[in-house]
Amino acid sequence: MTAGQPDLVRADLAQADLARAGLRFEVGVPAPGAATITLDRSRRRNAMTPGMWQGLAAIGRALPPEVRVVVVTGAGPSFSAGIDLRLFTPEGVPGEDPLVSTADPGFDEWLAGCQAGYRWLRDPGVVSVAAVRGHAIGAGFQLALSCDLRVLADDAQLCMKEPALGLVPDLTGTKPLVDIVGLPRALELCLTSRTVGAAEAAALRLAELVVPGAELEGAVADLVAALLAVEPAVARATKELLQQAPGRTLDEQAAAERRTQVVLQRTRLEG
Ligand code: ACO
Repeated sequence: MTAGQPDLVRADLAQADLARAGLRFEVGVPAPGAATITLDRSRRRNAMTPGMWQGLAAIGRALPPEVRVVVVTGAGPSFSAGIDLRLFTPEGVPGEDPLVSTADPGFDEWLAGCQAGYRWLRDPGVVSVAAVRGHAIGAGFQLALSCDLRVLADDAQLCMKEPALGLVPDLTGTKPLVDIVGLPRALELCLTSRTVGAAEAAALRLAELVVPGAELEGAVADLVAALLAVEPAVARATKELLQQAPGRTLDEQAAAERRTQVVLQRTRLEG
């Protein structure tokens, strides 16, 4: 980047724009090589808007290459109370575009743009960690599900509220939910919209770790440090291999392990 040339990548992440979207993005937190995204509308329990989902997508697009671990968390007592319910009222949310109607021909593209804010958290180049205290409801639960790993404070409460509001969960949460808890439990959780506490979440494998609230930050920092101790190319290749395993037979996966090892070791020797 030459002096005076606008830094388009960083410009995409202008903190003022992110703040307007209710987001904070800190590179190097909790450690060099990591970044932390904070949903930052605590007065409204980090209720989410399309602007926030688009802000998350912008962070994903412009993620600095040195960032290998991304922590997603919420300011205040809740991770997120889900979609800002004022969006369903005629008044809407001041300063926010209204939701696009499902009858609008542009609905599919618009929703895909919102989903982009969730999708990149699975990219093999990063490991994403949701640090959840308090409520993670609806769109907030789906955001936690989009992360590779979940660390929960013992007051965490997870709820897939959408069906109770006449909606399907549509922010990419259904696949990880089924992958993690299995179809029958996923169906039960979605169609009853019941709240799952931290202990049950751990039993259902929705949490890798549950800690007392006061220890959440420290536990996440320890996990991030452990993840960063692995070489970047090794972490990426391993994540890719593991992500592809469910869709493969044992023979296919064994072959993929062999291929990946050859490519990885060649890369490491050259690097
Ligand atoms: N949208 C807009 N405002 C919200 C939302 C929301 N989803 N959640 C909370 N708020 C606001 C409240 O209206 C309240 O505002 P006020 O201080 O101006 O009255 C403030 O945030 C604090 O909320 P409380 O209810 O007082 O906080 P409490 O800690 O007691 O409860 C809880 C938190 C359980 C999250 C509760 O607010 C709640 O049930 N919120 C709605 C959850 C919901 O149904 N979300 C939609 C899910 S579906 C989807 O995401 C697609």
